[in-house]
Amino acid sequence: MSKILLELRDVTIRFGGLTAVDNVSIKIEQGKIRALIGPNGAGKSTIFNLITGIYPPTEGEITFQNIKVSGLKPHTITEMGIARTFQNIRLFGEMTVLENVKIGQHCRTRAGFLSAILRGPRVKKEEKAITEASMEALKLMELDHKADELAKNLPYGEQRRLEIARAMATNPKLILLDEPAAGMNPQEKMTLMNMIRKIQDKGLTIFLVEHDMKFVMSLSDRIAVLDYGRKISAGTPAEIQHDPAVIAAYLGKEVV
Ligand SMILES: Nc1ncnc2c1ncn2[C@@H]1O[C@H](COP(=O)(O)OP(=O)(O)O)[C@@H](O)[C@H]1O
Ligand SMILES: [Mg+2]
Repeated sequence: MSKILLELRDVTIRFGGLTAVDNVSIKIEQGKIRALIGPNGAGKSTIFNLITGIYPPTEGEITFQNIKVSGLKPHTITEMGIARTFQNIRLFGEMTVLENVKIGQHCRTRAGFLSAILRGPRVKKEEKAITEASMEALKLMELDHKADELAKNLPYGEQRRLEIARAMATNPKLILLDEPAAGMNPQEKMTLMNMIRKIQDKGLTIFLVEHDMKFVMSLSDRIAVLDYGRKISAGTPAEIQHDPAVIAAYLGKEVV
């Protein structure tokens, strides 16, 4: 039996009258690539927001390495080893590629971002470590040669990879990727797929939300399917593809 890294137990969140996530349980084994799919509005991004502490669940609990994380603050959860990217690109276009990665780590250093600008001796040492970790993450995403370019000048596919680099530089154990291939051309998707496999080879666990079925099916060990906040199916890619409940959920809806 593999070790369970992340577990959602009967997790529910309500926004006013809307139950965005409804009694969802998911277990993710260490070192695996798990996907979460479902029609738009199914609650996928909300599950990532719950895992990263943006919202506490209304009911249920989330554990990471057997420690309860639901109710903890986002920065604490990041420090424990969970990193994420967002569905929509969140880069600082006027900053360099390297600066965009570094900014993701300042939140977890003792000195903090503000004192980093003031530069005390401890800060300088931390700064060096941050730069090194950032360059390593950029190398992994094959963007190290663009470290000094402005983020806005990167092609779209590389901007999305830059966001993954920023997440990777925090040295996570689990990385949550929210629609990382959205808007990419087939070549960019292929490159990204190989990089996600490289991340897995480093020993990380990956939780992936993605609409591109070919992408999801070829990468994931297991897939969970959400519809209207409820988990309607879970299994291997082959099992999911033939599940009538999944087919019904997608009927008449945009699959992409
Ligand atoms: N902060 C919020 N307040 C109110 N409703 C929200 C909030 N966040 C998400 N929702 C709603 O929850 C549902 C699920 O949204 P989301 O998780 O973004 O779906 P998905 O990522 O699967 O497309 C949607 O109906 C959305 O409008
Ligand atoms: Mg979403």
